Amino acid sequence: MAESKRHISREIGLEIGHVVGKGLFKLDHLHYGLWKKGLEPCILNLHIAQDEYCKFIISHIPAEVKSILDVGCGAGAFSRKLADIGYKVDCVSPTEYQNKIVEQVMGSDCEVFKCKFEDIQTTKKYDMIQFCESFQYIDIDRVIDIAGGLLNDGGYLLICDFFKIKAQDKYGLKGGHKFDKFMSVMQQSPFKILEDIDITAETAPNMDIVDKATKEVMIPIADAADRFLMSRSPLITKLVKWKYRKKLQQAQDKYLNGKRTGKDFAETKTYRFFLCKKGK
Ligand SMILES: C[S@@+](CC[C@H](N)C(=O)[O-])C[C@H]1O[C@@H](n2cnc3c(N)ncnc32)[C@H](O)[C@@H]1O
Repeated sequence: MAESKRHISREIGLEIGHVVGKGLFKLDHLHYGLWKKGLEPCILNLHIAQDEYCKFIISHIPAEVKSILDVGCGAGAFSRKLADIGYKVDCVSPTEYQNKIVEQVMGSDCEVFKCKFEDIQTTKKYDMIQFCESFQYIDIDRVIDIAGGLLNDGGYLLICDFFKIKAQDKYGLKGGHKFDKFMSVMQQSPFKILEDIDITAETAPNMDIVDKATKEVMIPIADAADRFLMSRSPLITKLVKWKYRKKLQQAQDKYLNGKRTGKDFAETKTYRFFLCKKGK
């Protein structure tokens, strides 16, 4: 799939995720959350896990940081949280849908760069740049140079996201830069890794929730819709199903092959928190 098509479908996926999450489950964030021991992995607890994730990040922000650039800020809920506890926060958001919400949530104190991180144009500098589950979308060959130019001397890069450690099955979980490549980019960069924390086990349960929702909600709804359409317009329904048979088969293979669970996530990805400082 061409990169622009992939970008559009990812962004629409995130938009649907936000509308459903906010509308049905009062979710403000778009990340996996941090599932502490004892918290049952179910959709109704996702807001608790997401709060834990934010607390975890905040507890690792160095004391001298005053200004933060939140890259890929989603709907701005985490940026708001940071501003409420005293940080000066600007945001980077490449989608129209999210931009409007971010501007409302953040108000006039915050500059929202309505573009991709790779296209940002500013002379401003920050004490810290954070990528909370947005790092995987940024061009790995350019991110370090751009971030370096936007940071004050001794500034910090905070990355909390997952990386690929193993090639996935054709229909397995997608996403994430290759971990080896990331580590080699960091080694050659002017940044020193101060903290590297593996939170794969605490984030993987999110995939069990998505898997369960797919099998127990989405698929039964699709089956019922199919029966309804077949009862009303069997000929047209059969024709449409035939026309899109390849796509329907792909969707079945993707979502029903049991390769999208927390266990699969933990086997093919590593979810890491990195705090890096500019200057070696
Ligand atoms: C999974 S969401 C995470 C949102 C938010 N940080 C959170 O933790 O809830 C990924 C975000 O990255 C943004 N994004 C995707 N590509 C980007 C790019 N090239 N530059 C900046 N942001 C990007 C998306 O619009 C989305 O808001």
